[in-house]
Amino acid sequence: MLSNRQLFLANTAQTSHSPRLIEIDRAEGVHLYGPNGEKYIDLVSGFAVSNIGHRHPRVLQAITDQLDRFLHVTVYGEFVQAPQVALATHRLPVLPERFDSVYFTNSGTEATEGAMKIAKKFTRRRRIVAAEKAYHGSTQGALSLIGNPEYRRAYAPLLPEIDFIRYNHHDDLEKIDTSTAAVILEAVQGEAGIRVPDLSYMQAVRHRCDETGTLLIFDEIQTGFGRTGRLFAFQHYGIEPDILLLAKGMGGGMPIGAFVANKTVMDVIKDNPMLGHITTFGGHPVSCAAALASLNVIIDEHLVDDVERKAQLFRQYLQHPAIREIRGMGLMLCIQLETFEQVANVSKYCADNGVIIDWFLHCATALRVSPPLVISDDDIKNACQVILNALDRGSDTP
Ligand SMILES: Cc1ncc(COP(=O)(O)O)c(C=O)c1O
Repeated sequence: MLSNRQLFLANTAQTSHSPRLIEIDRAEGVHLYGPNGEKYIDLVSGFAVSNIGHRHPRVLQAITDQLDRFLHVTVYGEFVQAPQVALATHRLPVLPERFDSVYFTNSGTEATEGAMKIAKKFTRRRRIVAAEKAYHGSTQGALSLIGNPEYRRAYAPLLPEIDFIRYNHHDDLEKIDTSTAAVILEAVQGEAGIRVPDLSYMQAVRHRCDETGTLLIFDEIQTGFGRTGRLFAFQHYGIEPDILLLAKGMGGGMPIGAFVANKTVMDVIKDNPMLGHITTFGGHPVSCAAALASLNVIIDEHLVDDVERKAQLFRQYLQHPAIREIRGMGLMLCIQLETFEQVANVSKYCADNGVIIDWFLHCATALRVSPPLVISDDDIKNACQVILNALDRGSDTP
């Protein structure tokens, strides 16, 4: 009989020639478990998703309650569905006043797509400015914004009138002008290998957008929901974007995303033509119920308050001559090494020794550390020791 691993390789589409092939049987809190008794500390959170840990009981209860009522009943935006209303209503008070309208999606990529559309329609402009090394999703619109030309070339032609600026470079802000509909930036660049911008840069971007009538879109798909030590990363900068993109950590493990804006901006999708931006499953009631429970966990359990202290523990333990730099904000951390070979070897050794760690789309020489925010001090210590042991082995192939 073929194993699950063999069936996975045979029957599911592969996205690379070298999938990690770690088999997961169940997950709880910060731990993943394999089918043969393997236990892993999760330092990736399913790529910044499981901020409150896996299978939080309040999320499971909210899902169960909603399962007892209804699943899908109609396309998004037609019927009044209590879980969507409750989520939008409870989310809004945690956001600044300008964000008074939420459009729910299935994913982060779809939030990017929706934001691009409303920005173009609202400003009646066509040009969008994005950053080098950015990642905003993989559909053709979102891929047009990817800040790595290799990925754009492979799927050309993509959207026209997209210009790129260097992230955190004041000089390039002149490229934002009165023909620019929107500037889209990650609040901290994730797939670039965690690049934290200067406060003055973010404030200058806001200023330039105000000067030119350009909408500022912040992609908080990876940074949102406490990951950086504030509920949303834009709160570090003392400015507000015009459109906010959310997903990943929003659903407590369920698929959901959103673009959030002021109603005057959002309302442009109501007509000319009407139903110009629709989705069948966006804002699925079960995902909305899970997302509301997850937000309440983050707030009630004060998870954000402890993020910086835990980040400092990682920084304190992760001292090794092979580490060139630790970058990041809160529990969105990156261990910069020298070569991809080191990264691959450390990741493999860690997995073999009970720690899940990974790397980045546009930075293959660094390791990603983005654990559930609920990780305990002991798990931080133990996971760091495994990473240090892996680094001690140098470039030996495990
Ligand atoms: C910053 C950022 N934006 C957008 C996306 C796309 O989100 P999704 O995979 O949910 O479509 C990602 C996913 O990694 C991301 O990190």
